Amino acid sequence: MTVSTPITTPFGATSTAAEVLDGVDLTGRRIIVTGGASGIGVETARALAGAGAEVTLAVRDLAAGERAAEDIIASTGNKQVLVGRLDLADQGSVAEFAAAWDGPLHVLVDNAGIMASPLMRTPQGWEMQFATNHLGHFALANRLHPALAAGGAAGGARIVSVSSSAHLRSPVVFEDIHFEHRPYDPWTAYGQAKTANVLFAVEVAERWAGDGITANALHPGGIRTRLQRYVTEADLDRLRGQSTDPIAAWKTPEQGAATSALLAASPLLDGVGGRYFEDCNEAGPNQPGSRRGVAAYALDPAAAARLWQVSVDTLAG
Ligand SMILES: NC(=O)c1ccc[n+]([C@@H]2O[C@H](COP(=O)([O-])OP(=O)(O)OC[C@H]3O[C@@H](n4cnc5c(N)ncnc54)[C@H](OP(=O)(O)O)[C@@H]3O)[C@@H](O)[C@H]2O)c1
Repeated sequence: MTVSTPITTPFGATSTAAEVLDGVDLTGRRIIVTGGASGIGVETARALAGAGAEVTLAVRDLAAGERAAEDIIASTGNKQVLVGRLDLADQGSVAEFAAAWDGPLHVLVDNAGIMASPLMRTPQGWEMQFATNHLGHFALANRLHPALAAGGAAGGARIVSVSSSAHLRSPVVFEDIHFEHRPYDPWTAYGQAKTANVLFAVEVAERWAGDGITANALHPGGIRTRLQRYVTEADLDRLRGQSTDPIAAWKTPEQGAATSALLAASPLLDGVGGRYFEDCNEAGPNQPGSRRGVAAYALDPAAAARLWQVSVDTLAG
């Protein structure tokens, strides 16, 4: 196994998305941010639009998307902020969104997600966190592959896979991804889906490198957003205390968007792929008892290739 030098940057836990992109000119770059109407997504989109990119907010609530777009246009002066309807849990919606896309795509920020929801299933029977967080983004990226390849041919294209330190809670359990034979646990399901987000970036970096497309994954930090809609305050405190790490302060959404912005558009990441970042730097291996770093199973190339094939087979029905 070859050991590569970890990517480090001058930025850290308190950097904001705007600081990370200071001096970066994204004029002519076309970017999609899923879940771009709230939380980290809207601040990622704002920073990218602030640097001159055309940004499309891919959202399931069009009215919320329009409000976010107006707000971003008002704060950045960049009128190229667009909105498209996308429900990642609905493969028909993913297909419609991708079919409506015209021309090259330079960056796809796979940001949307749900966390620790009670057991829900799509009409196909897929567990909802895996279906939304992984399968929806997997299908979207594959359907947009020609557009990404066109972006790749014109200066490079990137996929940003927003994962979480919660990936440390579970590998992808290939024997029973959809909790058909094991008891459902909301955090295990979230962890599994977030591991899938990292494995997806690993496989894209391998598979699509020849198209000029790179992909990396990240943990944004802890940020108070609507993501915690299914979780009680007591649960959050308990979960944050289950670690030998000092309890990290909550980040602001602008700080939470910094690592996404870095991976989406910083020249510091040119040519880098298949890696996992936190606090704007590549993360090292997770140490037992810690909630920092990346699990070996999330970067495992064999698991990444297996997940890709399983995802293709699942979507094919
Ligand atoms: N906040 C944190 O502490 C934290 C920590 C680690 C990782 N993350 C990751 O960061 C990402 C962004 O989360 P956030 O904290 O910014 O939470 P958020 O404000 O709830 O953003 C998530 C977005 O995903 C959208 N979404 C959910 N289901 C969707 C679907 N089926 N189709 C399309 N969009 C859908 C939501 O839209 P609606 O408003 O319509 O539901 C929302 O805009 C997530 O991937 C999350 O796992 C966050």
